[in-house]
Amino acid sequence: MVEIDMKMKMQRVDEIIEGYKGEEGVLIQLLLDIQSEFNWIPHGVIARISERLRIPKSHIYRIASFYKAMSLNPVGRHIIQVCLGTACQVRGAPKILDRVEENLKIKEGGTTPDMRFSLKRVNCLGCCAMGPVVVVDGNYHGKITPAMVEDILGKYK
Ligand code: FES
Repeated sequence: MVEIDMKMKMQRVDEIIEGYKGEEGVLIQLLLDIQSEFNWIPHGVIARISERLRIPKSHIYRIASFYKAMSLNPVGRHIIQVCLGTACQVRGAPKILDRVEENLKIKEGGTTPDMRFSLKRVNCLGCCAMGPVVVVDGNYHGKITPAMVEDILGKYK
């Protein structure tokens, strides 16, 4: 099963590479396309790009680590950010984070085994008056209480 999955993944990678055939300086765009296709850039895919485009792997890793929009680790389909900046902390953000971790059965920085959710802790999202704040896929949820966590996450399950 995993093997078939990997084969399909590589076919898709080859299609994306083909789409840029003959064009110069396409590496960043190509990596962004891979990122948006798989939600991260797997190591095997970097090896494939390196082989097909004759670009050293070290150079590809440098680019992929430099851009925040690219991830070298698996990322879930839904990204949950829990703000633990000072204003959110004093309004109970640590309890919100605990509840999210409990609900998803992962720790901050982790991804659920089904690749549905990744959980990140952030420091101030610039909307302190709304605190505590949880952002899911860019959607802001403000004045959160621990009791609201299940409902919010339920919308993405
Ligand atoms: S501290 Fe959470 S939004 Fe500013």
